[in-house]
Amino acid sequence: MFRLPTAHSTLRRAQCHTVIKAGKVVSTLPRRCLATVTHDPFRPVSRPSSRGPQWFPYEEHYESVITRKKTDKSYRWFRNVNRLAQEFPYAHSADEQSRVDVWCTNDYLGMGGNPEVIQTMHAVLDKYGACSGGSRNISGHNKHAIALEDTLAQLHNKEASLYLNSGYTANDCALTVLGSQLPGCVFLSDASNHASIIEGIRHSGASKKIWGHNDLEDLENKLKSIPKDTPKIIVFESVYSMCGTVSPIEKICDLADKYGAITYIDEVHALGLYGPHGAGVAEHLDYEAHRTERPQGTVMDRIDIFAGALGKGFGTMGGYVAGSAALIDMIRSVSSGFIFTTAQPPPIMAGAKAAIDFQRRNPQSRMELQRNVRAVKKAFREHGLPVLPNQSHIVPLMVGDSAKCQQVADILFDEYQIYAQPINNPSVPRGQERLRISPTASHTPAQQQHLLSSVVEVWGRLGLPTLRDWERDVDGKVKLDWDPARVGSPVWSNKQLDVAPRELLFDPSTSSVTLEDTRLGQ
Ligand SMILES: Cc1ncc(COP(=O)(O)O)c(C=O)c1O
Repeated sequence: MFRLPTAHSTLRRAQCHTVIKAGKVVSTLPRRCLATVTHDPFRPVSRPSSRGPQWFPYEEHYESVITRKKTDKSYRWFRNVNRLAQEFPYAHSADEQSRVDVWCTNDYLGMGGNPEVIQTMHAVLDKYGACSGGSRNISGHNKHAIALEDTLAQLHNKEASLYLNSGYTANDCALTVLGSQLPGCVFLSDASNHASIIEGIRHSGASKKIWGHNDLEDLENKLKSIPKDTPKIIVFESVYSMCGTVSPIEKICDLADKYGAITYIDEVHALGLYGPHGAGVAEHLDYEAHRTERPQGTVMDRIDIFAGALGKGFGTMGGYVAGSAALIDMIRSVSSGFIFTTAQPPPIMAGAKAAIDFQRRNPQSRMELQRNVRAVKKAFREHGLPVLPNQSHIVPLMVGDSAKCQQVADILFDEYQIYAQPINNPSVPRGQERLRISPTASHTPAQQQHLLSSVVEVWGRLGLPTLRDWERDVDGKVKLDWDPARVGSPVWSNKQLDVAPRELLFDPSTSSVTLEDTRLGQ
């Protein structure tokens, strides 16, 4: 029978969400946890009963874990943000009439609302339905999976690819298989690698050596220490999404050649965004050659294994690995996480393929995104805001304190209708908490201006450290490189973007002129 909640109701106020039980106000929660308290008649209202003092106190234990997370400020609050396909990058919050400008989406190019993608998905959904029907072994393999995997292999100029249910699963499954099937294998993993890579390596049971983030000397020393005939896999990302650093791909390939290792690159945050066809940074490094033809002997060819995700620049869902036919067949044949799970539904696979096809033909939106990124970075730096320099599309705005980081994000959301996600430990080291701003191709100059003036106001109001403060690094605790010239030129050159270096846009070689001692609020 339909059960109505009885003594439990919620009342929304201006800045907070008040929870009332049995006529009494029992708590007032900040708006960001609306999703967890909104009425749902099917939500159980009774607490699980205690099993008695002689048994393990399960519920109390769960609560203690949560309390620990709240105390060390690593507890994650979810926001109810409903992205609007027709109004990208806007979303509405719990109130359908509201509008929030989303500055932290990974759907960087708005492909989730792209008409070609949506039409393809509609057509496939109507014809083939919402479910794949089983694992790839049991009726989940179909023409959509075949076409998508062909496209992914072509994208990276590889013999084959394997599509999995997410980017996380792709890394986890592929690395688990590699580490467990190559006898005595040693992983050499960059210190800033994503959780899915760390877990994949761990699940494989193979041994690992962690090298300093982008530190080639450290990588070489570790490679040297491993016997020649031991299988070695260098695992790294092209664009690191929390700091926006870009790896020295060619130099890593040189070391792999020198020490008989294979290379595994995660291009998850570069797909759709770099390269003439959106294949990632490895493609971008031979930009002209790939733009005109598909040459042999490129940086892409030097990479043994590509890992990717489709839920970022390609705006849909899923993950994959691409490499030699034998490698892909091995993963397909032994990976538990691939074999024993239901395949993604046909519309998802078809939509992912449509997004890749679109981006291969249309470089405009990735160029527009890079122009927006440059404009935002330049404006922020000129206003003394601490943007950590990098060569990519990520705009890390440093706060350096988890509570303040959350506070900035709350004020931006509640007062300025701007959604920028705070990034706290463990995603980044303590003391390096930040807002991770990711401009999209669709953010207009007016939206950029609104972001800038709002952030400047909040920085002044809360007295947060400015760019100058960070550069001085008073206590010397946080080791960050604030010099754009040392960090290197953006992956997209001015020529490729067709922009004049000294005009509107930020160029590392001219950065010193933009660094005024701008105390905010003065
Ligand atoms: C570098 C990297 N690899 C893999 C993933 C996982 O991809 P997905 O979100 O499709 O599971 C992420 C997710 O953010 C990521 O940042």
